[in-house]
Amino acid sequence: MKTEQDLLEIVLSRHGRRADMLLQILRELQSALGWLSRATLSQVAAALDLPLAQVQGVSGFYRFLHERPVGAYRVLFSDNVTDRMLGSEAMLADLCQRLGVLPGAMSRDALASVDRTSCTGLCDQGPALLLNHHHVVTRLDGDRVAQIAELILARVPPAQWPTHWFEVQDNIRRADVLLGEPLAPGLALSAALERGAEATLGEIKTSGLRGRGGAGFATALKWGLCREAAGAQRFVVCNADEGEPGTFKDRVLLSRFADAVFEGMTVAAHVIGAQRGFLYLRGEYRYLLESLQSVLQRRRAAGLLGNAILGRSGFDFEIDIHIGAGAYVCGEESALIESLEGKRGTPRIRPPFPVQQGYLGFPTVVNNVETFCAASQIALRGGVWWSEIGTAQSSGTKIHSVSGDCERAGLYEYPFGTTVERILQDCGALDAQAVQLGGPSGVCLSRSDFGRRIAFEDLPTAGAFMVFDASRDMFEVARAFAHFFAHESCGFCTPCRVGTELLARRMDKLAAGRGSGADIAVLFELDRLLHSASHCGLGASAANPLRDTIAKFRPAYEQRLKWLHFEPAFDLDSELSVARRLTHRDDAGAHLENEA
Ligand SMILES: Cc1cc2nc3c(=O)[nH]c(=O)nc-3n(C[C@H](O)[C@H](O)[C@H](O)COP(=O)(O)O)c2cc1C
Ligand code: SF4
Repeated sequence: MKTEQDLLEIVLSRHGRRADMLLQILRELQSALGWLSRATLSQVAAALDLPLAQVQGVSGFYRFLHERPVGAYRVLFSDNVTDRMLGSEAMLADLCQRLGVLPGAMSRDALASVDRTSCTGLCDQGPALLLNHHHVVTRLDGDRVAQIAELILARVPPAQWPTHWFEVQDNIRRADVLLGEPLAPGLALSAALERGAEATLGEIKTSGLRGRGGAGFATALKWGLCREAAGAQRFVVCNADEGEPGTFKDRVLLSRFADAVFEGMTVAAHVIGAQRGFLYLRGEYRYLLESLQSVLQRRRAAGLLGNAILGRSGFDFEIDIHIGAGAYVCGEESALIESLEGKRGTPRIRPPFPVQQGYLGFPTVVNNVETFCAASQIALRGGVWWSEIGTAQSSGTKIHSVSGDCERAGLYEYPFGTTVERILQDCGALDAQAVQLGGPSGVCLSRSDFGRRIAFEDLPTAGAFMVFDASRDMFEVARAFAHFFAHESCGFCTPCRVGTELLARRMDKLAAGRGSGADIAVLFELDRLLHSASHCGLGASAANPLRDTIAKFRPAYEQRLKWLHFEPAFDLDSELSVARRLTHRDDAGAHLENEA
C-alpha cells in the first residue's frame, strides 16, 4: 500500500517538481487524500522550495481545495438562479435532513458534506450537483435525491451508482456553422499551413472575428500583437473557465467539437509562432478531462500535434490541460494566467497585456473556446465567407446557452443580428417578462427590449440567455446575483471585496422588509464606486443586475418599501440618470475590460 510520502513523490515527479504546477499538484494530492492537511502542505512547500505561507495562500484561495476534512461523499449543489427556480434549495434541504448534516458542514461520522457551489454550467438540465468534484448528477428531482441519500448511507461507491444519472446531454437545438457537422480533423490546419502564417492572419482579419468571451476584442489584432511582441517563446491559451452563471456553450463545444477547439489553437500557434498551449478547464468540468485527453492523444497520433506537425519541420506544438479549482475570477484572462502559473487567481495590473507579457512573462494569446472553433472554420473556408454572415461589426454566428422558463432549454446558434424575440419564440418561452443576457455581469432585458438585436452594435453577449416568466420576482433574481458576486469576489481590492458584500446585505435587508428608499440610494452609490474603483471586470459589473432591475422592474423594489417611511429626498429617475452618466454605461457592458 502506498504511503502519503510515496504519493507525494509520484505527484511531484509527474509535475517535474515545478512551482508553477502547484495548483495541479494540490488538486491531485487532494483527490487521493480527500483534503490537504497542514502537514501535506508543509511537505509540498519543502519539496518545491516555497514558503509554506505561499502554498497556503494558494490552497486557501480555491474553493475546491479543502484545508479541513470533508466527508467521503462531497456533494455540491449547483446554485444558479435557474437551479433554484427548479427547486434546488428544497432538494438540498431534503438531502441534508436525510444525511443528518447541515449545509456547509460535514456529518459527524465524516461520511458526507453537502454545500452549494456557483453555477456548474448545467442549467439546461438542472437542478444539478457535483459529487466528489469528479462526477455530475443532472436532472435532480425528489426521488433521485432520496436515492442519492440511500446510496451514500449504504456507502455505495459512485462508480456503482446508476450510470444514466451522470449523463450530460448536449441539447443542441439550433445549429449553424459551428454546431453543425464537425470538421474533419486536420482540414483547417492543412489549409492554414498551405496558405502560410501571415496569410492566415490576413484571413482572420478579413473575417472580422471578435472574441466570444465577452469583451469582443478583434482576434486578428490580438494574434498580430502577440506575433510581433518580443519574446523567446510564445503561448496559446484556451479559456475554458466558463464560469458566468447561465453559460454552458463551451461545455458542449468541448464535449462534441474538441477537435475544432484544439485545431483553432494549433492554427493560432502557427500564426503567432507558439510551441506550447494550454486548455484551462474549469474544475466543474473535470468530468470532461479523460475524453479531452483522448482527443489530444488521437491528434498526436495523427501528426496534428507534437513535432513537425503535418510533416512541416520546425512546426512543433503541444497542448496541456490545466484544471481550475472553483474560482469564477479565474475566467478573467490575467487571473487565469496567474492560476496557470500555480498561483492565486488574482487579476494582474495591465499593461502589460498578456499579448506582451503573459504566461511566465512571455507573449500569450488567450481566447475563448468558441473563438478558437470559429478560427478553425475561418482557416478552412476563408475570411470573406465568415464576414458575410452576421452584421457589419459582428461577423459570424453566436452560440446562446438558453435556460430558465422555456420549453426547450439548450444551445441555439444564430447569425449575429438575430432578435431576442426570435430566440424566445424558438425556445418556447411563451410568457417571458425578462431575459438576463450575458449572465449576471451582462444586461437584464424587459419586454420593451425584445425587438433588439444581439450584436456588438446593440446587445453583445458572452452567451448566457436566461429567461424569466411573469411569475418570477425580478428582485429575487437580482438578489441571487448580488450574492453570487459577493461570493466570487477574489478580495484583492477593497471596493469590490467590501462593495459586493454591502450590495448583498442591502438586498437582504430589502428582502426582509426592513429597507427604505435610502437603501436604494446606497445601492446606486455602491454601483458608482464599484464601476469607478474596481480592479477588474468582476467588481465593475457586480451592480449591473441591481441597476437594470431597479430601472426595468421598479415595482418589485417599491413593494418592499411600502410599509416603510419613503425617503422624500430619494428620486429614482434622477439617481438612474446620474448613475448612467457617471459610469458611461451603455448596454454593451458584459465585461467592461480594457484589454488587448
Ligand atoms: C470576471 C471575469 C470572468 C471572465 N470569465 C470568462 C470565461 O469564463 N471565459 C472567457 O472566455 N472569458 C472570460 N472573461 C473574459 C476574459 O478576460 C477574456 O476577455 C477572454 O478570455 C478573451 O477571449 P476572446 O478574445 O476570445 O473573447 C472573463 C472576464 C472577467 C472580468
Ligand atoms: S474587482 Fe473583485 S474580483 Fe476583481 S480584483 Fe478586485 S476584488 Fe478581485
